[in-house]
Amino acid sequence: MNSFPAVDPIPLPAPVWLMKVLHVVTLSLHFAAVEILLGGLLIAAILSVSGHGTYARHAAGAMARRLPIVMTYVINFGVPPLLFAQVLYGRALYTSSVLLGAWWIGVVFLLMACYWLLYQFSERIEAGKTAWPAGLASWILAGGIAQILTGNMTLMLRPEAWAAMYERSAVGAHLPSGDPTMMPRFFFMLAGGLMTGGVWMLYLSGRSVFAKEMKGYLSALGGRIAAVAAIAAIGLAFLVVSRQPDAVRSGLANHTLYSISGYAWLALALLILAAAAMAGLGRHQSAFTTLGAPLLTVLAMIAMTLYRDGIRDLSLLQKGFDVWQRTEVSNWSVIGLFLLLFVAGLGVIGWLISVVAKAAKQHEGPGPVIDSGKIMKGAA
Ligand code: HEM
Repeated sequence: MNSFPAVDPIPLPAPVWLMKVLHVVTLSLHFAAVEILLGGLLIAAILSVSGHGTYARHAAGAMARRLPIVMTYVINFGVPPLLFAQVLYGRALYTSSVLLGAWWIGVVFLLMACYWLLYQFSERIEAGKTAWPAGLASWILAGGIAQILTGNMTLMLRPEAWAAMYERSAVGAHLPSGDPTMMPRFFFMLAGGLMTGGVWMLYLSGRSVFAKEMKGYLSALGGRIAAVAAIAAIGLAFLVVSRQPDAVRSGLANHTLYSISGYAWLALALLILAAAAMAGLGRHQSAFTTLGAPLLTVLAMIAMTLYRDGIRDLSLLQKGFDVWQRTEVSNWSVIGLFLLLFVAGLGVIGWLISVVAKAAKQHEGPGPVIDSGKIMKGAA
């Protein structure tokens, strides 16, 4: 029996391929920001525990100061893929969202508490007060949000579990359980977070606002964390795939785009591992570690998001939902206007980034920074 609700009241206003391209692009950006938050926050919270030394405290402060900004990207890059996913997969996603409704609504409040604690964490470090409890609490809430999202994104693929979920609680008081892919998928995101958090430290180590010793500290520690986490993420990626039903696994292997994106992710993860190991073992700093590794990480996010999209489509296909068969009535004038505004929006973001890049830099952390023969403002 097909368990998906029979209604799709509004046809798609644009071709499926266009919706999917926009979905994958925006979701990859959401994942990049989420992974910096999940990994960077945990690393900063641990480094802020007193007793780790001056460099650790300054590294924690530098990361904590940037994390509220990272959170704005998590949220703003989360909204577009949510809209695209709802339009494309509404019959599956709305149903699963209702079935864990209490938790799903709860994300709003968890997010507010998480954000508030993030500011507390950053302000307390700045003021030289004990900060790690606020940082850790914020990280636990972020992890809770990730768990709810993973729960929903796996429940939407399991219509066979929906009736029992509804019988257990009509208000959606329970999170789903019993899916063998769910926990590996969640831990894959957490390991990816630590990998990305370490890569973020590599990126920071290339910034001119830090003194030489501080750069060396960020690079060596970030490299070690990213390397270990990359190995864990690769192992968990294999576990996620091995837990998929046979039909989904063979579908992934036989589909050109999905198999290319799977291998591309693996190759990129190995390159990130190499860059991280170079930085972590040899205190080696070069454009490959400070800029190459972050770029490779963004590309890995895109490859992973494409592959993940394949897992969803093939899983739903097994259950009788083919997203490519959705009724489409494209409204090209609206699509044209949307794309115009989308490109204009990207242009404005680029302009804002260029303004920030040109702004006077404030030295952060211990040790003086010499810039063009002058000691930078704020040097300690
Ligand atoms: C601390 C905040 C957040 C964290 C830690 C977080 C984390 C995650 C994680 C781990 C996933 C992947 C779940 C999986 O498939 O296994 C995910 C997916 C997603 N998140 Fe977030 N998220 C956060 C906030 C948000 C917000 C505020 C929005 C939207 C307003 C959002 C929208 C989405 C969407 C739409 C997806 C999945 C889309 C799809 O599968 O098509 N997230 N998020």
